Amino acid sequence: MTPKISVIGIGYLGAVHAASMAELGHDVIGLDVDPERVAALQAGRAPFHEPGFDELLRRGLASGRLRFTTDYADLAGAEVHFLGLGTPQRADGMGADLSHLRTAVAALAAVLPARDGADTLVVGKSTVPVGTSRELAETLEQVAGVRLMWNPEFLREGFAVQDTLTPDRLVYGIPDPGVRDQRVEMLDAIYAPLLEAGVTRLVMGYEAAELVKVSANAFLATKISFINAVSEMCEATGADVTDVARALGMDDRIGSKFLRAGVGYGGGCLPKDLRAFLASAEEHGVGEALGFLREVDAVNERRRTRVVTLAEEMLGELAGRRITVLGAAFKPDSDDVRDSPALDVAARLLEAGADVRVTDPEALAGATRRLGPERVVAGTTAALHGAELVVLLTEWREYRDLDPAATSELVEAPRMIDGRNVLDPRDWAEAGWEIRSLGRAPTPRPAPRPTPLPSGQRVLAGTTPSRQDIALAAARQLARA
Ligand code: UGA
Repeated sequence: MTPKISVIGIGYLGAVHAASMAELGHDVIGLDVDPERVAALQAGRAPFHEPGFDELLRRGLASGRLRFTTDYADLAGAEVHFLGLGTPQRADGMGADLSHLRTAVAALAAVLPARDGADTLVVGKSTVPVGTSRELAETLEQVAGVRLMWNPEFLREGFAVQDTLTPDRLVYGIPDPGVRDQRVEMLDAIYAPLLEAGVTRLVMGYEAAELVKVSANAFLATKISFINAVSEMCEATGADVTDVARALGMDDRIGSKFLRAGVGYGGGCLPKDLRAFLASAEEHGVGEALGFLREVDAVNERRRTRVVTLAEEMLGELAGRRITVLGAAFKPDSDDVRDSPALDVAARLLEAGADVRVTDPEALAGATRRLGPERVVAGTTAALHGAELVVLLTEWREYRDLDPAATSELVEAPRMIDGRNVLDPRDWAEAGWEIRSLGRAPTPRPAPRPTPLPSGQRVLAGTTPSRQDIALAAARQLARA
């Protein structure tokens, strides 16, 4: 049977898109050059951890509407081809590497037949620098009847299925939004169930559609770095960044999302998209306008260094000290370790000579690839055993729910750095932990109860509170406020 839709590039984006299109009732074929990935998906095995994807994949395969291939010839005849290829950072600079995308478009163009006068639609979903659609359209339009649209994808890992089937908006980029374009109706037909459910679709020029996506990711990165810059100010002044963020977020012009201060952003998108946006702005002669993004990147980088200096403040010399890092994925509910802040910090601690162990509920394979098997431990309890310092860097529920008293039984010394501001420092301090959180004053451990003085004995001179005592009391009061 000729599939109606093809999806080229079946990584996170493409695989979820292919299975979601089958879920909407279309006949779909997914293509990848990686035979192992294709075989796994065809056998119903998700090659990555993504909540809800396994069921979607199995349903698609069982319905007969979803299949996978490595052969471009199997795509010929489909009406709509989605491009879901990765656009990683170039090895030689900050710009995006478009080689996978260009190769795929050329390979597709080579197999596309003329479909009896009917148009064939190619829909780009990858995140690309502005100008890419027009360049690729030139290659594709050499084949009669083939038209290109750009339809950026905004899905988040961990919510990929939900974001694909119930997106905030659909953006369609076409060459000239001023004229009626049959491409819009073709894509509307594919997304009909979403449009009927009330999802807004916005039609605009290619360039605007490309810019929506890169600006969205740059804005999200900026928001995170903004609160992390404030976090540095909090550390310098004794304020608590979680108090600041909470109150800021209640202004609905600002909003509370993406104001979680901590070790900063990572992943396969925000860091590289921000740098690609900068590189592309420079190519277009407006590097100065977006120059602040360099600072956004620098703030993010400094948070990682800060974790290492905090570890030094707590342990002194790091060489030979046992440190357990909780988390390896760049965020919870994902096994993706691309540009993971957690793994980067673990690598820096290792460089400083520490005896590091890393654990994660899902990302052990990725951690092993980066740090080697001797550094990676399965299971939280085993990983905590013998730790002189615990560093929480990915906020999996399992780590957020740790019980401070029970955890202190497992470690060698109760010291914690909460790199995601997800633990209640008072609870941990009360259970005897020395806990430091990014952007919050140190939480003093409660002083041991004073032994009552024998009756008649007076408190002697020297008990006048020092400046340090006053500052500590003020910090404590702030932390409790
Ligand atoms: C991001 C965007 O959120 C998606 O809209 C976009 O489609 C996707 O990139 C993409 O371009 O494909 P994702 O990479 O899955 O999605 O991750 P996010 O949820 O954006 O988180 C990125 C990083 O920011 C994580 O490391 C997370 O821990 C960190 N973060 C997030 C914070 O440090 N603080 C916050 O308040 C929020």
